[in-house]
Amino acid sequence: MNGGAQVVVVARVLLPAGLDPLRERFEVREGGLDTTREEVLAIAPGASGFVADPSVPVDAALLDACGESLRVVANFAVGYDNIDLEACRDRGVIVTNTPDVLTEATAELAIGLTLAAARRMSDAERDLRAGRWRGWDPAAYRGIEIWGSTVGVVGMGRIGHRYARLAHGLGAEIVYAGPSAKPDAEGELGARRLEFDQLLEASDIVSLHAPATPGTHHLIGGHELELIGPHGVLVNTSRGPLVDSEAVAEALECGILGAAGLDVYEGEPSVPQRLLAAPRCVLLPHIGSATVPSRDGMARAVADNVIAVLEGRDPPSRVV
Ligand code: 8YV
Repeated sequence: MNGGAQVVVVARVLLPAGLDPLRERFEVREGGLDTTREEVLAIAPGASGFVADPSVPVDAALLDACGESLRVVANFAVGYDNIDLEACRDRGVIVTNTPDVLTEATAELAIGLTLAAARRMSDAERDLRAGRWRGWDPAAYRGIEIWGSTVGVVGMGRIGHRYARLAHGLGAEIVYAGPSAKPDAEGELGARRLEFDQLLEASDIVSLHAPATPGTHHLIGGHELELIGPHGVLVNTSRGPLVDSEAVAEALECGILGAAGLDVYEGEPSVPQRLLAAPRCVLLPHIGSATVPSRDGMARAVADNVIAVLEGRDPPSRVV
């Protein structure tokens, strides 16, 4: 459409809030929701901007397929563990993400998962739908309350802090673990920083808000689940690789862990069969940021980042 315009490749899909402003300025090539790696590689050559999301690995081979024209990789997400940052740095390619606009949406979903897991909502609903409800039973589906509980926040960043604020509003005491002290959360919420294992032991509910890095891979495995304990609740809205799914399934089966609420998985979109069958487990398909304002905000942020770089300005949210 725009003869001679710079090319922006959208590996999968971008919502109109981001796609429209890109189309006004650039030639846009889109993959589609089901694009394969081969198809992405085929539309990549000549791209100045490349829009990825966490299901699109951006590695040296993909950057090289885009070629020397490539100036920016804009991730349609706040997390960017799908991108080889070193390979981008080596090639002088800027990397951007979409922070802030999804903080509330993701923290609210984490609260939803916390409540759903703590109150056995999935098991209860499954039984009702399957015709297994035989009437009110004082012993059935008993869980724990957020009120009066200790909530452990692993990763007190933007989303972790917002989640902690909501949990605190529901009457929880907040403890947290992470690489640095967070005086804001300590002052505002009385949050106490603990060593990781201490946090797991002290918490009734543990919610993960840390990025996927080599250092956080399988942060939660069998030992950690034992520390969370038979009445404890694990919530993960961050990234799948932080949690050993098989260990969670086993801990739920054996009663070592009270309940789990998961929104993210290793190797998405496949979910281990054992987890699907596990009791006291609420499973969602990576919908942490799935609200209208959040996803539109993310799409707009992608476009703002791409446009800024391709017009020679600093992008609003640069990672590298
Ligand atoms: C995204 C996310 O919706 O931003 C992130 O890092 O995990 C989610 O909010 C998802 O990654 C798809 O873009």
